[in-house]
Amino acid sequence: MADNVPATKPYRDDADWWKSTTVYQIYPRSFCDSNGDGIGDIPGIVSKLDYLADLGIGVIWLSPVYASPMEDNGYDISDYRDIAPEFGTLADMDRLIAEAGKRGIGIVMDLVVNHTSDRHEWFEASRASRDNPKRDFYVWRDPAPDGGPPNDLPSYFAGSAWAFDEATGQYYMHLFAPGQPDLNWDNPQLRAEIYDMMNWWLDRGVAGFRMDVIDLIGKQPDRLIRNNGPKLHDYLQEMHREALAGRNVLTVGESWEATPETGLLFSGRDRDELSMVFQFQHVTSLWGEDGNKWRPRPFDLVTFKRALNEWQRALAEDGWNSLFVSNHDLPRAVSRYGDDRRHWRESATAIATVNHLMRGTPYVFQGEEIGMTNAGFTQIDQYRDVETLNFHAEHEAAGYDLAAFLDGAAANGRDNARTPVQWTAAKNSGFTDGIPWIGVNPNHDRINVDNQIGDEHSVLAHYRRLIGLRKTHPVVVHGDYVPCLEDNPQIFAFTRNLGNRRLAVVVNFSSEPARCDIPAGLETSGVCAISNYAPRDTIAGTLGLAPWEAFAVLSETRGQDPSSGSKSTGTDTAQR
Ligand code: GLC
Ligand code: CA
Repeated sequence: MADNVPATKPYRDDADWWKSTTVYQIYPRSFCDSNGDGIGDIPGIVSKLDYLADLGIGVIWLSPVYASPMEDNGYDISDYRDIAPEFGTLADMDRLIAEAGKRGIGIVMDLVVNHTSDRHEWFEASRASRDNPKRDFYVWRDPAPDGGPPNDLPSYFAGSAWAFDEATGQYYMHLFAPGQPDLNWDNPQLRAEIYDMMNWWLDRGVAGFRMDVIDLIGKQPDRLIRNNGPKLHDYLQEMHREALAGRNVLTVGESWEATPETGLLFSGRDRDELSMVFQFQHVTSLWGEDGNKWRPRPFDLVTFKRALNEWQRALAEDGWNSLFVSNHDLPRAVSRYGDDRRHWRESATAIATVNHLMRGTPYVFQGEEIGMTNAGFTQIDQYRDVETLNFHAEHEAAGYDLAAFLDGAAANGRDNARTPVQWTAAKNSGFTDGIPWIGVNPNHDRINVDNQIGDEHSVLAHYRRLIGLRKTHPVVVHGDYVPCLEDNPQIFAFTRNLGNRRLAVVVNFSSEPARCDIPAGLETSGVCAISNYAPRDTIAGTLGLAPWEAFAVLSETRGQDPSSGSKSTGTDTAQR
């Protein structure tokens, strides 16, 4: 199968190329609308490829563009080998792959194979009769003796994970919406169909897959097991053999329950599974009691650092981290972790500095690079997201406090990430000439790409510099990671070390000035690699930091002054 890989590969040839790249996530519905129907589309993405190339990214992770009834904005797929008409055509997709490839950018597809849409032909066959050959592609069970659902398994989108099908008198399982029936991975024909489809996309030239809720595919519904089922890793290894081996592509699995212990199972060198996983411990450790995302706790730096540092430690020798602070399911990073009012620019750039300089592959979610903020929705009718709407209805039915729920949704709801990208200050932020499918953030008059594109002090320029640093300094990619000041409640600091090269990173992760005594392990003197205030080249003594001040110093251990050596040691990036 590897013979079929097109001659002009849109991604790089060297092994582990995905360690040194930066990935940009596009949520197509909200990115750029080319035809005025209010919905972002593939031609809209093509029109922005020069912007993305200029930012320096090497890969686009494209949230689903497949045919779909859009109950969950494309995470409910009705045909894996076609494109949703609102997003374009297969020809548009081929053009995107080719045009991105010309700019050295690979396209990573979202692979949603824990479930399909209930309009997928497999499910239509499966529900047609109990003896249909595709019946077993999904998970069907008899009702409980009282006629109710077979057991208490809950859906992630509120309510039971079981829906009753009148026609055949059984329940089918849906860990998400009823329109997203779960596939039965224990069926070998189903698995073969999926590998076949993956090969079809890889042969079209895509550079890999982001695998949606991949840790659910080993589910054991009768034992109430959703994540990390006993066969999960067997299936991933089989998938690797059947579709990925020899392809040299980027694969990243979404796993809300992955721990530093299980992280290596997914991404260990000799495991032959995935390049890396998205883990969420830095996200969920800040949720409320019992993991209630609608009652998030105030941000706490020590908790946040502990989660990230543990992962850095666990994958120090083997495996690989993915680095992200936002995506289409999370609030905007500058609103969740930063201070989007008093220190908007400083906190957006400080958070990015940490995220891009840890060890792993960084991901940028559309709009993050200009510091887009939460949506600011206050009414339920402003929301479009099935998860938010379902939980709102559940709270309403139970007579719970709806004002408190709306506060939770404003802080943590998924639509915060899904308002249109703010390209300009014009009406509808230059996203569409029509009526956008979801409200545009009114702050687009202030926060937009146009404003920042020529401004060297902008959030955008800072992201460009961070992405550039990774390309010029191997220590950013390959250096080891040593956390510093782990218990300090204001400062996020670490060093990266490779041979005699060293990068020391210090960030005041708070809105107050900070002072601290620099421990011996962090002391550095060299050249400033990046900063969001005035450049600094020394970390020593008692250091005073301005709110959200962030900088990194590049040095050579064993005496030599890096600024006297080659020109590529970092002064370039400080002045760009
Ligand atoms: C993942 C996706 C999310 C989707 C869910 C079901 O968590 O990121 O957007 O709703 O899976 O596919
Ligand atoms: Ca459109």
